[in-house]
Amino acid sequence: MKKKKVLVEPSIFCGDLGNLEREAKRAEEAGADAIHIDIMDGQFVPNLSLGSGIVAAINRASDLFLDVHLMIYNPYDYVERFIEAGADRIIFHFEATEDIEDVIQFIRTCGVQVGLAFNPETSFDMIPKFIGRVDLILLMSVHPGFGGQTFMPEVLEKVGLTRKLSDELKADQVIQVDGGINFETGRQCVQAGANNLVSGSYLFEHADMKTAIQEMKKL
Ligand code: DX5
Ligand code: ZN
Repeated sequence: MKKKKVLVEPSIFCGDLGNLEREAKRAEEAGADAIHIDIMDGQFVPNLSLGSGIVAAINRASDLFLDVHLMIYNPYDYVERFIEAGADRIIFHFEATEDIEDVIQFIRTCGVQVGLAFNPETSFDMIPKFIGRVDLILLMSVHPGFGGQTFMPEVLEKVGLTRKLSDELKADQVIQVDGGINFETGRQCVQAGANNLVSGSYLFEHADMKTAIQEMKKL
């Protein structure tokens, strides 16, 4: 299997929410490839987080690519305002809407990238029809809703199967993993075929974020 370049995205929800501008700059200076912004509605996941105003604030503070992870029901209704706020990619959940095709189409029409996320308990069988049809597939390695949870190793099999099918289809699919990622779990994900790692508490609590990101990129 050809070695893929690993991109690293700090999840800013795990940073100091009172100093978002500083945290965004810190991630940028540490060599992050993008900033991952978690949006939670208190319905699809049992927690509330940030809204589109926060995306706009982060966009003003940083030139980095903004990857917006929507953990919300009815993503179609909110996509536009997050794009207006500066999202470069919208990731929404397979489990959150019946209108997946419409949402993919709408995000594309708005001119930004589209990602589709799958919860840990969602079967791999749901994934094949989207390979090569979205810019990114996100495989959750925790139950979404909170930072600082423990990585679920069950996701590795799904990562491997997704990469295998992507290779067979020559789709060069970007596969992102999110939840409980540190150097060791990140290494396991990359070995299984992931090429985009989201990491929240590990990176923001690290004494040297720059070194931590550089090490992950070399996985
Ligand atoms: C989980 C979020 C993640 C999370 C990552 O609901 O989607 O992005 O904040 O945080 P860690 O790396 O601490 O699991
Ligand atoms: Zn996330």
